[in-house]
Amino acid sequence: SRRYTITLLPGDGIGPEVISVAKTALQLAGSLEGIEFGFKEMPMGGAALDLTGVPLPEETLSTAQQSDAVLLGAIGGYKWDNNEKHLKPETGLLQLRKGLKVFANLRPATVLPQLVEASTLKKEVAEGVDLMVVRELTGGIYFGQPRGFSTNDNDEEVGFNTEVYAAHEIDRIARIAFETARKRHGKLCSVDKANVLEASMLWRKRVTAIASEYPDIELSHMYVDNAAMQLVRNPKQFDTIVTNNIFGDILSDEASMITGSIGMLPSASLGESGPGLFEPIHGSAPDIAGQDKANPLATVLSAAMLLKYGLGEEKAAQRIEAAVLDALNKGLRTGDIHSAGYKLVGCKEMGEEVLKSIEHKIPAA
Ligand code: NAD
Ligand code: IPM
Ligand code: MN
Repeated sequence: SRRYTITLLPGDGIGPEVISVAKTALQLAGSLEGIEFGFKEMPMGGAALDLTGVPLPEETLSTAQQSDAVLLGAIGGYKWDNNEKHLKPETGLLQLRKGLKVFANLRPATVLPQLVEASTLKKEVAEGVDLMVVRELTGGIYFGQPRGFSTNDNDEEVGFNTEVYAAHEIDRIARIAFETARKRHGKLCSVDKANVLEASMLWRKRVTAIASEYPDIELSHMYVDNAAMQLVRNPKQFDTIVTNNIFGDILSDEASMITGSIGMLPSASLGESGPGLFEPIHGSAPDIAGQDKANPLATVLSAAMLLKYGLGEEKAAQRIEAAVLDALNKGLRTGDIHSAGYKLVGCKEMGEEVLKSIEHKIPAA
């Protein structure tokens, strides 16, 4: 049988709750396809700060680097919000992405027919939306130098960051985006702020240059403010979106709400080689942590992306995806996607139903 080592990083808040569900889903779907997993659970984020004093211990990073794939819950929480920058859970997450060199973050947003009513948009606007945000993940303002705190000429405090992209960073994410669009519906929209920012002017120039390698893909450009508006005006116009680190962060949260809830959206972060990092796009949700209220499906679907994009185990991935649909078809809803007429369940019960469905439901070939 095939064997893989998976690093699990539960993290903080609802992270451990949703990871525990995703782990059992992986185990079961794997075993039905002759796959054996060796799990290594490591501390990360606030949990690692409390345990070791740093948000990404060296042993966590090296374990992740040596595994076949990494599954992360979420990090962060009030307790660490006022920590110095290098001692923030979020800094650990950025170090992990950089350390794994996962520059391409795929964030699909699909409106499932079962959840059209959970969207805050009108049915005719939300129905049928199926888009993919390709977010650059290891560059831009998140990492640009110089950055820091200082004082200006009036001796007033200032904080500053730098949006910087090198041509090769844009070229490689653009190629991933064109390839992604090719496997989807052949349309790519590059989102930038090229009317104002130099980094965006270069972004648009390089994406346009790379487009000559993909004559079959229909490329368009859009300013990010307009894109934010178009996403709620008419989201069906989008197929694949490629954008920088910070715009991708914001637009993917916005896109999640079209689908009903941020609790539904998974992601895959990939590099040129080495293990991929798979995580829901949501955070540690401290407002509902420890109450068995979290929607585990974003993490369960991230586990499916791990199987598909990380390990090439398409069949096991399909088992998980089919089980998620099956649980929704049975009428189960966590609070974030609940509406009248459905059965309100907690994280654990949703997890148990997904497991039952993996066991009993064989996906269509
Ligand atoms: P958040 O995504 O944690 O929560 C936003 C809202 O969505 C909250 O009301 C929350 O209850 C809800 N929500 C999120 N996930 C849910 C789920 N699975 N099921 C049901 N409801 C869900 O964003 P935030 O409140 O801005 O940030 C909280 C903390 O998480 C911060 O410390 C932030 O830095 C961190 N964060 C971490 C990640 C990550 O680990 N990748 C991502 C985003 C935010
Ligand atoms: C995300 C989060 C992170 C990001 C934070 C927690 C560093 O918002 O994964 O979307 O901004 O990338
Ligand atoms: Mn985010």
